[in-house]
Amino acid sequence: MNPKPWGDTAVVGKPVSRIDAYERLSGAAIYSLDVLLPDMLHAAILRCPHAHAIVKKVDASAALAMPGVRAVLTDADQEARIPWHPDAQGKPVSRLFDPHCRCEGEEVAAVAAETPQQAADALRRIRVEYETRPFVIEMEAAHRAGATQVHDGGNYVYPPGTGDTERGDVAKGFAEADVVLEETYRTSCEIHTTMEVHGSVAKWDGKRLTVWNTTQGVFDDQAALAAALKMPLSDVRVIGHYMGGGFGSKLNLGKYTVIAALFARKTGRPVKLFLSREETFLSVGNRPAHTMKLKAGVRKDGTLTALELNGIGTVGAYTDWTTVGYQVADLYLCPNVRVKELQVYTHAGQSRPFRAPGFPQCSWALEQMMDALAEKIGMDPVEFRLKNIAAVSQAEENKPYTSTGFAECLREGARVFGWRQARERKKGDGAWVRGAGMAGGMWGYAGGPPSTAIVRLYADGSVNLNIGASDLGTGTKTVMAMVVAEELGVPLDRIQIESADTATTQYTGASGGSKTVMVDSPAVRAAALEVKAALVQMAAGQLQAAASGLSLVNGEIVSADSPDKRVKVQDLKTLKEQQVVVGVGRRGPNPAGKVIRPFAAQFAEVEVNTRTGEMRVLRMAAAHDSGRVMNRLTYENQVFGGMTMGIGLAMTEQRILDRETGKMVNANWHDYKIPTMKDAPADMTCVAIDPHDHECDTTSTKGLGEPAMVPTAAAVANAFYHATGVRMTSAPITPAEAIAALSKRRKG
Ligand code: MOS
Repeated sequence: MNPKPWGDTAVVGKPVSRIDAYERLSGAAIYSLDVLLPDMLHAAILRCPHAHAIVKKVDASAALAMPGVRAVLTDADQEARIPWHPDAQGKPVSRLFDPHCRCEGEEVAAVAAETPQQAADALRRIRVEYETRPFVIEMEAAHRAGATQVHDGGNYVYPPGTGDTERGDVAKGFAEADVVLEETYRTSCEIHTTMEVHGSVAKWDGKRLTVWNTTQGVFDDQAALAAALKMPLSDVRVIGHYMGGGFGSKLNLGKYTVIAALFARKTGRPVKLFLSREETFLSVGNRPAHTMKLKAGVRKDGTLTALELNGIGTVGAYTDWTTVGYQVADLYLCPNVRVKELQVYTHAGQSRPFRAPGFPQCSWALEQMMDALAEKIGMDPVEFRLKNIAAVSQAEENKPYTSTGFAECLREGARVFGWRQARERKKGDGAWVRGAGMAGGMWGYAGGPPSTAIVRLYADGSVNLNIGASDLGTGTKTVMAMVVAEELGVPLDRIQIESADTATTQYTGASGGSKTVMVDSPAVRAAALEVKAALVQMAAGQLQAAASGLSLVNGEIVSADSPDKRVKVQDLKTLKEQQVVVGVGRRGPNPAGKVIRPFAAQFAEVEVNTRTGEMRVLRMAAAHDSGRVMNRLTYENQVFGGMTMGIGLAMTEQRILDRETGKMVNANWHDYKIPTMKDAPADMTCVAIDPHDHECDTTSTKGLGEPAMVPTAAAVANAFYHATGVRMTSAPITPAEAIAALSKRRKG
């Protein structure tokens, strides 16, 4: 039976600093990148410098003779012939060091040496004979007839038409519209650029493997490693106590982890293998570029009559997630919808999930289209969206949402932003003009079981909390400790946490999909409640009172009927005898027949220089329905971080591939521009819309990490339009793109 939803809370919802903030900031926290083991070797990877090449020969003899070099791995080593990169049907199409290199940065060989410098030097002495091949890096080119093939089966990831969806009668919908608009929108390929680079430390003890990994999910890595090395799960231990950002790029096992494990086995020494910053730009994934042709019909009264999306995406050389259409099919009420998506292979780095995969791209198109439709019918953009709020999930067989605060996000966001005033403000006269824009959004996935958590309360009243989840830096550990503090009344500094270690913590899925809080906090709550129930039972015996009349208040168990009957937790005789109470909590199922979704609306005011094309985001406001706010501080951190990332999508970030060579020309943090403090407005606010959703899970939470960046870029683009009257359909809106568009309009 589910516990009663929380009413007023003492700890949950308050702004609480991360409980490991001191460790993280002082350098005391041991990230996987910091792990140093006695006798450890350092490994490095030789990568293909070509967009498309066949490795004809690898000669590592000179490298092996270099000082400090202890081992080399290539495709010639039988143990390294591990299948990699499944296609859309799940069949591996490559190997760890596959001689067919389908993009720049593919792994060709690796070296383990006494020092990182010796490993790097040795890489330069490996002689590789490449046969370069023609390549295709642009997705439009990749799906033309006769295009250079990335894989033997051609360039389609799956046959065209697969996964297309349609409801209602789209042609009829367009016929019934007063206004029909059609536009093609583009977003660029973005790199995750996590603060901590990717890598692992591997160590063998007999047949048992231990890996310190920077990962979003230790149990997923354990399973993938066990499969790759053909080992039982029980012999593989993955530890990820601290990690410095993933954004989706650390959801899947990396080749670097397997290579470190192979070297460690081969040499009998622990091996550390971390990528350089430059390597991470090439080889750990990206948010793929997308081209979205969107057609929309609307009646004068603001009723949407039809939506049609034709999307082309590229996964790069190997498949992963790239669909974008969900919000077109779900966010706004519309009876007639068609979504067609085409995925092609190109000779470029592989896509990976990246913070709300597909959703910011879709918003870029859909929310700019909504803005344009609103203008055409002379309706305020917020009012127009409010006319089209859905109570059911149209993309999921019209099942009702457990809750939707979308309308309130729009209303409250507009209020705190000062939407009306901002829209009516004088735009400016000189070179700088101002404008305000907004966008709505949602996230299309919800987590569920399995997740297990253990709470151990000791005789002195202190607590160990045991969770399998990785804390990506978002404050997961803090939120989970707050749940324990809420239920048991134990102060946060009396709670010690074990997390993200497959050998010592309990199973849960990876921290991704904005589902960590909604999956793991109910398990933690259940564990804490089990401890509480055990304490009450002990007190009932000791006080000679019925357990049903007892409750735990401020570290004391008190009888409601006779308040003189009370006992401190530390004075419970049974607790003293057994020394510890253990509560095991499990995540229950999601409600049947319903859909759990978070919603958002974001607002931006920008300033554009019509002579130079520069844009400044002056301020932003966000309103999010992610269910209950667990920690007001980390909640805001997520929203402000998400909006900053969204500004990057809108204004600065793009992987640039050279047409002549197919190589990435900005594979570094200098030329690939992520927003800095100077690009993000100091004036960011966020309001939390809590729909008191007691159906989604037992902590009433829905997930925030990804929705935080879904509408941002579109809101900025809409503000640019409001300021200038020029619609920027391609992201990022760089000064060069902006000035080109502005001068084109000036000329006529
Ligand atoms: Mo997220 S893209 O599931 O880390």
